[in-house]
Amino acid sequence: MRKSRVVLAAAAALLALSPGACGSSEKTVDKDASSGAADNAGALIGVTMPTRASQRWNGDGENVKKELEALGYKVDLQYAEDDIPTQVNQIDSQITKGVRVLIIASIDGAAITSQLQTAADAKIPVIAYDRLILKSPNVDYYATFDNFKVGVQQANSLLIGLKLVNADGTPGTAKGPFNVELFAGSPDDNNATFFFNGAMSVLQPYLDKGALKVPSGQTDFKSIAILRWQAREAQNRMENLLTSTYRSGVKVDGVLSPYDGLSIGIVSALKSSGYGTAGLPYPVITGQDAEVTSVKSIIAGEQYSTIFKDYRDLAKTSAQMADAILKGRKPVTNNEKDYDNGVKVVPSMLLDTTIVNKDNYEKALIDSGFYTQAQLR
Ligand code: GAL
Repeated sequence: MRKSRVVLAAAAALLALSPGACGSSEKTVDKDASSGAADNAGALIGVTMPTRASQRWNGDGENVKKELEALGYKVDLQYAEDDIPTQVNQIDSQITKGVRVLIIASIDGAAITSQLQTAADAKIPVIAYDRLILKSPNVDYYATFDNFKVGVQQANSLLIGLKLVNADGTPGTAKGPFNVELFAGSPDDNNATFFFNGAMSVLQPYLDKGALKVPSGQTDFKSIAILRWQAREAQNRMENLLTSTYRSGVKVDGVLSPYDGLSIGIVSALKSSGYGTAGLPYPVITGQDAEVTSVKSIIAGEQYSTIFKDYRDLAKTSAQMADAILKGRKPVTNNEKDYDNGVKVVPSMLLDTTIVNKDNYEKALIDSGFYTQAQLR
């Protein structure tokens, strides 16, 4: 580790001294795919996405392909329908096809270690897309959003919806106590823990002083996690909570949901239980991804908020990373400390995110060109 840093530093020093040095902050990298930069023009790049079942991954796949093609590359894009063996086969087959870079949004972050070893043996660099790939030394870069911040924003928006705090962070008009239930994402997705930890960093003090209560008592990650982010599972869990804990007039005031797909299941369970009327309004329900169905639900006053992650930018970032590697440059990153995959800290580029609710969805989603007004009708 130390040795390679020294080598890099020496290489950088040499580069700075060379007559052609132009003061650019980009360094050359000793990455094999970069060795024949000219040969890499028009190279094939393998892109694997977890599933077509959610709107965002369809958008991610299309955009990554578009961005790479605009840079002159060919793209092999695959979806695995949340089935781990399918994704494993897709990566194997992309390696056989001779891809020069792999961009992977994994299903189970720890399930592709041996494929990545094969990739490393074939000198194919790997970019983890949105989700960190775990337990492998063969992950070169990570393009994602600020996942801890997403959790912080989800929790802040829950507090704002409950009027415990104002949008500017000052204390709100309400004091509580409020009944809330917590949901987390898939335990095999590293992001789920980041969202949860980010959210709990905000909610814990409110739980400690009693302004928030979790009547089910289920607050640890394991008991609230929903495998593979399944809407149906979230609906089942919410239905169970409603029957076990919310009888005899006790009502739910808020639900921390980490993803729009789960929020849809949660809303359904609440609706079947009589929520969504003047006498029994929906609790404050959060989300993530600004999926069309959920934005419509926000406009209709069911879901309260979502987190907008502009995956057009993520697609561009990952394509630029691949392009930089193939041209022998070091991709731009902004975080070299937080994403430890169990074997190494993966240099990461974290993009920003926005809380969206009924008040700002037009500005955030329509004015930015992410959706048209018609798509949200
Ligand atoms: C996460 C991702 C979220 C959401 C979720 C379910 O990995 O960061 O934005 O899409 O998966 O698909």
